[in-house]
Amino acid sequence: MDSSRTRCCILLLVLFGISIQYQCSASGIDTNQAVLLFVNASEASARKIPDTLFGIFFEEINHAGAGGLWAELVSNRGFESGGSFVPSIIEPWAIIGDDSSVIVSTDLSSCFVRNKVALRVQVLCDIEGANICPGGGVGVYNPGFWGMNIEQGKRYKLVFYVRSEESINLSVALTGSNGLKKLATTTVVAANVSNWTKVLVLLEAEGTDPNSRLELRSTTKGVIWFDQVSLMPLDTYNGNGFRNDLFGMLKDLKPAFLRFPGGCFVEGDYLRNAFRWKETIGPWEERPGHYGDKWKYWTDDGLGHFEFLQLAEDLRALPVWVFNNGISHNDQVDTSSVLPFVEDILDGLEFARGAPNSRWGLVRAAMGHPEPFDLRYVAIGNEDCNKPYYLGNYLKFYSAIKEAYPDIKIISNCDGSSKALDHPADLYDFHIYTSASYMFNNANHFDGAPRSGPKAFISEYAAHDDAGNGNLLAALGEAGFLIGVEKNSDVIEMASYAPLFSNTNDWGWKADAIVFDSSQAYGIPSYWMQHLFKESNGATLLNSTLQANPSNSLIASAITWRNETDKNEYLRIKVDIFLTVIISALKTYTI
Ligand SMILES: *[C@@H]1O[C@H](CO)[C@@H](O)[C@H](O)[C@H]1NC(C)=O
Ligand SMILES: *[C@@H]1O[C@H](CO)[C@@H](O)[C@H](O)[C@H]1NC(C)=O
Ligand SMILES: *[C@@H]1O[C@H](CO)[C@@H](O)[C@H](O)[C@H]1NC(C)=O
Ligand SMILES: *[C@@H]1O[C@H](CO)[C@@H](O)[C@H](O)[C@H]1NC(C)=O
Ligand SMILES: *[C@@H]1O[C@H](CO)[C@@H](O)[C@H](O)[C@H]1NC(C)=O
Ligand SMILES: *[C@@H]1O[C@H](CO)[C@@H](O)[C@H](O)[C@H]1NC(C)=O
Repeated sequence: MDSSRTRCCILLLVLFGISIQYQCSASGIDTNQAVLLFVNASEASARKIPDTLFGIFFEEINHAGAGGLWAELVSNRGFESGGSFVPSIIEPWAIIGDDSSVIVSTDLSSCFVRNKVALRVQVLCDIEGANICPGGGVGVYNPGFWGMNIEQGKRYKLVFYVRSEESINLSVALTGSNGLKKLATTTVVAANVSNWTKVLVLLEAEGTDPNSRLELRSTTKGVIWFDQVSLMPLDTYNGNGFRNDLFGMLKDLKPAFLRFPGGCFVEGDYLRNAFRWKETIGPWEERPGHYGDKWKYWTDDGLGHFEFLQLAEDLRALPVWVFNNGISHNDQVDTSSVLPFVEDILDGLEFARGAPNSRWGLVRAAMGHPEPFDLRYVAIGNEDCNKPYYLGNYLKFYSAIKEAYPDIKIISNCDGSSKALDHPADLYDFHIYTSASYMFNNANHFDGAPRSGPKAFISEYAAHDDAGNGNLLAALGEAGFLIGVEKNSDVIEMASYAPLFSNTNDWGWKADAIVFDSSQAYGIPSYWMQHLFKESNGATLLNSTLQANPSNSLIASAITWRNETDKNEYLRIKVDIFLTVIISALKTYTI
């Protein structure tokens, strides 16, 4: 049988379960009333749901990318997390040895012009003489993002840049968190590294530890500089750098689109800290990285503009690029000065879509992707509608993009669901973070939206207020809302839950669809709820009517969809009940 029927039954079980509680706790109310669902299967009453309806929204928040989906294991690989000044912040790098054996500092001697900070390791002890180095040597280690997940039999590509006036003899190791258990070791010997020299080593793990670290040690006196130290597992999705387990959980959702690289992350608290796509492309070693001041952490930007486009392609999802429109949380660029920002975004579009011999298409081709990416959607800013320069800036971006790329659909930050927009747009953003019951009660919000003009993009939704770390109540509220989204999919083109990810070590915003640490991941109920809707993209919505009382606590939809594996057409009925009265009664009575 269609597995959707099983799912449907599960939802109905929830309904019955709650009804029984209700009878126990509040006598005198008729719980035996029939609930009837009429589904009209005639073609004339059916409507196609947009192919794009349900997708995902990636924001660099909670270490979603750095220390998450992006598989880079070294945290702060360029020693740059204090910015371009010295002394820089080198954490989480730490020193192996003490004051008498090693002195570690930062200077601006790197060979990379956009990230000049390098690590200077002065080894005071030696292989012989009065100050003999402790066993194994002294140096530095990096524990990654709260521990590196190293797995037996897997291979890891270590790259670093080194310079020294003396010959070097480094011992490189992957070890357990206290440095004792060795998982992989090698030595790097070089007679002449008086110029910055790139070192590439493949390490194969002989053991497993989800809380490992990378060590770089020396036993010979002298000064060694390090920069841009990277450790990547070879085993990533398609070799494209995405952590397999997390990527798989995204792929399983069959997302129709990927909105990226964030919302507030794109704006920044201040413009100087906003995401700038040009700083995130080209060879990873040359990227400056940046401090995301809204979510308060440094990213080396290994997951950059190119990688986001690649991620969308690997997911077979349409990329939706959100870019900064000259507005942050605390400062703005006057519309009369916004032109350089507009040109920067046109360059970013050429990077994604231009011919491989165009100025920016050439850069993309050099990164290994000569074919253009299928970029058809852009959002001008995030949550900026009411800012003084938004409309002025918006119109500058809008006309420049439409002139260069007439087919690209443009998303406005202004809510057009209650009244028509006063400016041209293909879609308008709608964000909703509320409680589970308000989420459910908003299922009909779009019943009253204008039936013509720009379509809605519900680019961030979540029953956030009472979701805790994620719970079934929130998922039921969201499911009700999404059933309403299906019913109104004549005016809604896209919808995505937010946020997508959280690392348990930086849980800055709750709830998040997928929760992970260095080696494990799980989906909260809101994640699994989205699976109930993944067959809806491109499916046929049937007219269904519920006869129920109270009618506002029940919502249902019916679709027919085609299973591409067995080529059969299936009917899927989703019913969601949301009785807050009962849930509060459950709190009071012990069953
Ligand atoms: C089903 O929908 C069609 C087209 O709207 C309509 O003609 C027909 O009367 C409907 N059937 C029922 C039983 O309501
Ligand atoms: C490198 O140092 C190790 C000790 O740490 C030593 O055993 C080895 O012989 C040295 N190799 C060279 C080439 O100097
Ligand atoms: C090391 O290499 C540099 C060029 O990179 C050269 O100028 C220098 O003479 C070499 N030093 C030794 C000791 O061979
Ligand atoms: C060493 O670096 C200098 C300055 O970057 C460069 O001019 C020179 O060609 C390099 N030497 C070698 C052998 O790579
Ligand atoms: C669905 O069917 C009902 C009952 O036939 C009708 O009142 C309603 O207008 C229909 N809705 C749509 C969107 O066709
Ligand atoms: C689609 O059909 C295949 C083959 O019958 C089945 O294994 C799979 O579970 C179906 N998919 C869904 C989502 O029902």
